[in-house]
Amino acid sequence: MKKRKTSLDKILYSKPSISKLEIDYATDAARNGWGENCYNYIYKFQNIFKKYHNKKFAIATSSCTAATHMGLRALGIKKNDEVILADTNWIAVVAPITYLGAKPVFVDINKDTWCIDANKIEEKITKKTKAIIGVHLYGNLLEINKIKSICNKYNLYFVEDAAEALGSSYNNRKTGTFGDFSVFSFHGTKTITTGEGGMFLTDNEELYNKVLIYNNHGRSSKMQEKMWSDELGYKYKISNIQAALGYAQMKRINIILKRKREIFQYYFKNLSKIDGLSMNPEYENTKNSFWMPNIVFDEKLNVSSEYIFNLFKKNNIDARHFFWPLSGFKMFKSKKNNYNSWSISKRAINLPSYSDLKKFQLDKIINLVKKAIDENN
Ligand SMILES: Cc1ncc(COP(=O)(O)O)c(C=O)c1O
Repeated sequence: MKKRKTSLDKILYSKPSISKLEIDYATDAARNGWGENCYNYIYKFQNIFKKYHNKKFAIATSSCTAATHMGLRALGIKKNDEVILADTNWIAVVAPITYLGAKPVFVDINKDTWCIDANKIEEKITKKTKAIIGVHLYGNLLEINKIKSICNKYNLYFVEDAAEALGSSYNNRKTGTFGDFSVFSFHGTKTITTGEGGMFLTDNEELYNKVLIYNNHGRSSKMQEKMWSDELGYKYKISNIQAALGYAQMKRINIILKRKREIFQYYFKNLSKIDGLSMNPEYENTKNSFWMPNIVFDEKLNVSSEYIFNLFKKNNIDARHFFWPLSGFKMFKSKKNNYNSWSISKRAINLPSYSDLKKFQLDKIINLVKKAIDENN
């Protein structure tokens, strides 16, 4: 089959890095990965992933949303419990809380990291609080130490959502290794992809065993062939073909991460000196995997998210909005009082960052950002 060309006129918002290795493994899974071989790539993918993170247990799932859902259930989160998370978030982080009948409690974000503001968590803790879900937004690091000490003080679970931060690290320890359990996404826009997919990672054997059973319709491994379910679970398994893609992507993880950094650094070199414009931070002792470069315009620059979004669209760039505050969604009936979450989402935008972006395309994006500032000042 001929390789389909993507027009260089159109700059996509995101695109995976797929080499011959991914095609070979997925083809092998499609040809041979059936019958007794139907778990081969799933095991390989789980093993390489847990080794990379130096963790004991990994379960590949159909999505990150699924991994969070099962993990929260395994922790015992149930109706009327409260779970704390940042207001600025993708809907997939909050949805599993509601699947279990628990109540999400939204905390404002830190204006520099765009992640949950650890200093604002304690005022939201009540007797019903059971867990904090911390998300490393756009690859940026959570204030892990502060959040973990709050969890210890109030006896709360720490769920680490590293869906956007595969390859980030804190004091040389990878993100996704700090939670009671952690979750990752392999959606097509993520650092590595399986098309759709996720991972549940933990050192806690009890949680692992529970999620293993939920993941396959409540059947223990001994009971699979006997078609016997001990409880109601879910059909959240990943497929062998998807796992073959994931295994190849993990073998190439260092190449993929290196290119992400190069792209971020090119934007940073050309944009960071503009007074009033900020980008993803990288603090001492942290490494940001820069899943998605973002720019935030200071209020004084007068550039709204809408303005830059439309300017990108007019110039054939697939723009994507910064996450909205979840407290603005009508299903949550929440107070809209998290200032940073509301303010930043009105003056920020995601920048394209896929591996085969060309220099002239990056220059085009950079020039449009500068143009947006000129046109509004
Ligand atoms: C922070 C975060 N958590 C969870 C998810 C959910 O991932 P999935 O689409 O694999 O369910 C995403 C995906 O976009 C995400 O960005």
